[in-house]
Amino acid sequence: MEKKQIDWSNLGFGYVQTDMRYVSNFKDGKWDEGELTPDANVVLNECAGVLQYAQTVFEGLKAYTTEDGHIVMFRPDLNAKRMADSARRLEMPVFPEDRFIEAVAQTVKANAAYVPPYGSGATLYVRPYMFGTNPVIGVKPADEYQFRVFTTPVGPYFKGGAKPITIKVSDFDRAAPHGTGHIKAGLNYAMSLHAIVTAHEEGFAENMYLDAATRTKVEETGGANFIFVTKDNKVVTPKSDSILPSITRRSILHVAKEYLGLEVEEREVFFDEVKDFAECGLCGTAAVISPVGKIVDHGKEICFPSGMDEMGPVTKKLYETLTGIQMGHLEAPEGWLKVVE
Ligand code: PLP
Ligand code: COI
Repeated sequence: MEKKQIDWSNLGFGYVQTDMRYVSNFKDGKWDEGELTPDANVVLNECAGVLQYAQTVFEGLKAYTTEDGHIVMFRPDLNAKRMADSARRLEMPVFPEDRFIEAVAQTVKANAAYVPPYGSGATLYVRPYMFGTNPVIGVKPADEYQFRVFTTPVGPYFKGGAKPITIKVSDFDRAAPHGTGHIKAGLNYAMSLHAIVTAHEEGFAENMYLDAATRTKVEETGGANFIFVTKDNKVVTPKSDSILPSITRRSILHVAKEYLGLEVEEREVFFDEVKDFAECGLCGTAAVISPVGKIVDHGKEICFPSGMDEMGPVTKKLYETLTGIQMGHLEAPEGWLKVVE
């Protein structure tokens, strides 16, 4: 199969329309068979549930070309499960998990020409999502839904790729206790837009959100979880009921323990202790592992010893091991890679 003529190594994290997408509709209490279509447009009633009350959830995962030329997806079963959890929380019907995996695989396969070549630094980002389609005017869940999957080839989420970024402690909250911070709902991202635009205007790459109740504990950023490394090489990551359970973070903890023999801790992380860590990184499907060099808290700077030029040594090992597994360069734990072709 011939690849598209794309300057893979200069791709940013943006939308490039690819050839095919998957669509399935939920009506009268059941999902239809679903199909691939070339039509990238969605036509909706003006009163559709998603347009009025933001009833939409989504996922993000990636497909990679491995060293030996296969196309694989990384842990799509966990995305399927998380989307089911997200849907239940927003009173949406669950798209069956086995069908989710089949739908993302079909969509990736149909867009194989857009899966960046091994070693290009780019990947194919896969975006499954679901939304309420029928008219809803009283506040209640929709009765009809559409599930879709599209793909787009992407480069690094943050400009500069592996260069450490500077982030700020946000004055805004991302998620409420007992709210929706733990699911991947569009509404969480809508409410982070003002905060991210403000951060960018002030010259920061991202926001560090603290817990809304006490503002003393580290939560996450708008699109990634945190990992920290202590001065004695322990990997620490915040535990909270109001952050997204990142698949990358869960994978990193496994890699740290089982591949690198590091101690790992998932626990509450107080903002006061952040200054004592040796390294800090953001982890997620889009972010992979993006090093943080500096955190600014209302003018007070926390500068990590790893500096602003390159990733800290432990972060780098985690990055190389994780991406090595994703690209088939290192042996993956059982079930982590789903071969598409
Ligand atoms: N946190 C938020 C708010 C996110 O949007 C994402 C992205 O998916 C993550 C964390 C990382 O999750 P994952 O590693 O599953 O992509
Ligand atoms: C992801 O990493 O998949 C995300 O969804 C983060 C961001 C692009 C919203």
